[in-house]
Amino acid sequence: MKHDTVIVLDFGAQYSQLIARRVRECKVYCEILPFNAPIHKILEKNPKGIILSGGPASVYANGAPHVSKELFELGIPVMGLCYGIQMIAYALGGRVQKAAKREFGLAPLRIKDHKDLFAGLPSTLQVWMSHGDHVTQLPAGFKVLASTSNCHLAAAVHPKKRIFGIQFHPEVVHTQKGTKIIENFVKKVCGCRPTWNMESYEKTVIQEIREKVGNGRVICGVSGGVDSTVAAALIHRAIGNQLSCVFVNNGVLRLNEAEQVVAMFKKNLGIPLHYVNAEPLFLKLLNNVSDPEKKRKIIGNTFIRVFEKKSKELERKRGPFQFLAQGTLYPDVIESVSVKGPSAMIKSHHNVGGLPKDMKFKLVEPLRELFKDEVRELGAELKIPYDLLWRQPFPGPGLAVRLIGPINKTDLDILRKADAIVQDEIRKAGLYHSIWQSFAVLTPLKSVGVMGDERTYENVCVIRAVNSTDGMTADWVKLPYDLLGRMSNRIINEVRGINRVVFDITSKPPGTIEWE
Ligand code: XMP
Repeated sequence: MKHDTVIVLDFGAQYSQLIARRVRECKVYCEILPFNAPIHKILEKNPKGIILSGGPASVYANGAPHVSKELFELGIPVMGLCYGIQMIAYALGGRVQKAAKREFGLAPLRIKDHKDLFAGLPSTLQVWMSHGDHVTQLPAGFKVLASTSNCHLAAAVHPKKRIFGIQFHPEVVHTQKGTKIIENFVKKVCGCRPTWNMESYEKTVIQEIREKVGNGRVICGVSGGVDSTVAAALIHRAIGNQLSCVFVNNGVLRLNEAEQVVAMFKKNLGIPLHYVNAEPLFLKLLNNVSDPEKKRKIIGNTFIRVFEKKSKELERKRGPFQFLAQGTLYPDVIESVSVKGPSAMIKSHHNVGGLPKDMKFKLVEPLRELFKDEVRELGAELKIPYDLLWRQPFPGPGLAVRLIGPINKTDLDILRKADAIVQDEIRKAGLYHSIWQSFAVLTPLKSVGVMGDERTYENVCVIRAVNSTDGMTADWVKLPYDLLGRMSNRIINEVRGINRVVFDITSKPPGTIEWE
């Protein structure tokens, strides 16, 4: 099915993906393109509406991102948000100025016109403002739709050209009825039909996989995480045993994790899984390695070696693979706009388990068009257990970056036990699904303690719990004292090798979520 499409032009806003997700929540398909995408590229998508995102720049600044005037002559409705309304004013002959003071936070919006964008909404709404510049004069033909006390031109329209501008952010949850405003734009103004949902996506993508793969064979590396599991389940539904899944135990998994993943694939999903226990190899190569980046490299490279070896073995038994499946998501493929320039490398992230592109396979990436929340929705359609779909993120290099200092099996086992207690208590307290990540870290620091009448000299364990929306920034979670007390008591009583437990109260920035 061809879906009606809305395009978000990204001016480098932290909220561009959020805008696209809100549009999709209205069941309308939405894609993000960079602000400087040529008009013919935009038209190739056959959009029924275009949204200009916010962005950190000032329209008059040197090198500020601009769109051509032509965009407003296509006869396609446009809605500019924050920087987007300033862009409209700039392009069409209005005026933008620095506001006397930056406006940041909630402001009451008075709506003067309840047609189109504000249809069905009350006359006052709390809206989220975050801007330094604002429009002081609208271009010819525009009229004001809504104002706040600080910002007279908080929303405006060119009724004939169907160009809308909004100074506030309807995409963030703080704006009351923000999604309704976006829904009004995509449905009432652009006339998009609400056809985008995971049930129809599943059908379409299964068909596409069948057409692409034909009689070929697909190999898929799975980690037990959400993305690779949903991708595998979807492909299995499409082509059954033409798919082979490989799960590598890299020796830095959590307590009983390998057994759980194997059981879930076999029992819950009915997908045969080739389990490779490569723990001895990984631990041999990681033994005594302390440098975090070295740990990541060894794990990444060894994974590739083990995976290739297994795929060759399977090919000898059952014939060649032509395709490699990956759980790539939409945020990984959006052509991103770097208004601020590339950020410094802090950690060599997210490439662990990523397989080299020069492997002879063609790629099958059935989640390429989806955001994480859509992957979870699709996973639920595919009957993947709730607990897995809402599992806290776990880094590719696993416990290796939570065991500070030299890697060895003894300390990994100590960390596994402590981590299992943290997870168990967090779950019992009913907090597992409301926390982004919670786990234990084992430090090489030893301190003196006393147990019974005995002096102890053992390691310090750290409890870490953070909340985040995307892992880019995070706040430490204020866990209840009694919960912290239970975790500390249990770890010291049940885990030999730890005699002191501390709680990490560092947010990101300045810290990172993982310790290494
Ligand atoms: P940091 O520690 O940089 O982590 O604040 C942000 C998020 O990324 C996860 N993380 C990784 N994930 N490979 C991964 O696949 C890695 O090397 C890696 N390092 C950190 C981390 O768990 C958090 O969710």
